[in-house]
Amino acid sequence: MKEENTHLDREHIKDLSPAAFIELTVNALKEQLTGECVMLGLSGGVDSTVTAVLLNRAIGQNLVCIFVDHGLLRKNEFETVLKDYKTLDLNVIGVGAAQRFYDALKDITDPEAKRKIIGKEFIDVFEEEAHKLQNIKWLGQGTIYPDILESLTADGKVIKSHHNVGGLPEKLNLKLIEPLKYLYKDEVRKVGAALGIAESFLQRHPFPGPGLGVRILGEITAERVRILQEADDIFISGLIENGLYGRVWQAGAILLPVQSVGVKNNERTYENAIILRAVHSVNAMTADWVQLPYNFLAKISNDIIYNVTGVNRVAYDISAKPPATIEWE
Ligand code: XMP
Repeated sequence: MKEENTHLDREHIKDLSPAAFIELTVNALKEQLTGECVMLGLSGGVDSTVTAVLLNRAIGQNLVCIFVDHGLLRKNEFETVLKDYKTLDLNVIGVGAAQRFYDALKDITDPEAKRKIIGKEFIDVFEEEAHKLQNIKWLGQGTIYPDILESLTADGKVIKSHHNVGGLPEKLNLKLIEPLKYLYKDEVRKVGAALGIAESFLQRHPFPGPGLGVRILGEITAERVRILQEADDIFISGLIENGLYGRVWQAGAILLPVQSVGVKNNERTYENAIILRAVHSVNAMTADWVQLPYNFLAKISNDIIYNVTGVNRVAYDISAKPPATIEWE
């Protein structure tokens, strides 16, 4: 089995049923990790959750999961997801660290610099937690196949550093374990379903590791996070309530670093612009914007403008990937 695991690659696993993949992987993990402890960062997303449940099947409570609130999660996401994780019987430590991320991001506007800072802070928080634990030998990661493909172009140039915590295993002197690294997202969802993970978890849209940090163009502040969280929440709740959420690969709101003139209650306003983005995709490598119903967009726009202090304009992104990307940064 160990031999098979060593040679597991896309070619070997691409035709396996979810049940066969689970059996092969859990057995390989059991053998590889006998008596050893693994630390895993959870993000609330499908990939890290499925990774956690697979590892939990293999090594039980020898898996310690860390869920960090970097202050760039969706509205109420930290509390909700932490509660959901308890129902999966996972051993999870929740770390509230928003302020230190905001401090580190002060005055930073360059997208890659933001990613690097968020990644570094994340590593520092993780390292601090690791030092409180004993006997950890491995770091688990929910890396999936597109993460590997997307981070590099054919000539090796980085487009966006999707791999947010590169360098962590070396820093902590841990060996890396990535059980999903040859699976595409739809395959991860099928494996998750076969593991008995609730649909509400599995159908969650992908959400980038740096979170709202790459959806707030320009400087990130606690106030700008609040504005985006409120707008994003109205959009996502609206998609769910109207039966549209499951028909979309990924959706979210983006806060622009510009103000524009408007009028509210007969007064001139000079406030922020929010972009709504919803895309169809199969694996995030290409994507197209979703033709959401006009009446739905009209309602969401009104709800945002009248309920989110600081926003007076909403626009809908109608760009395909390529040449645009899904995220704005
Ligand atoms: P793009 O913007 O490159 O995004 O079209 C493709 C997919 O990757 C997600 N994404 C990220 N995920 N860290 C992540 O974990 C990142 O820095 C990052 N940037 C983009 C994006 O949400 C989409 O699903």
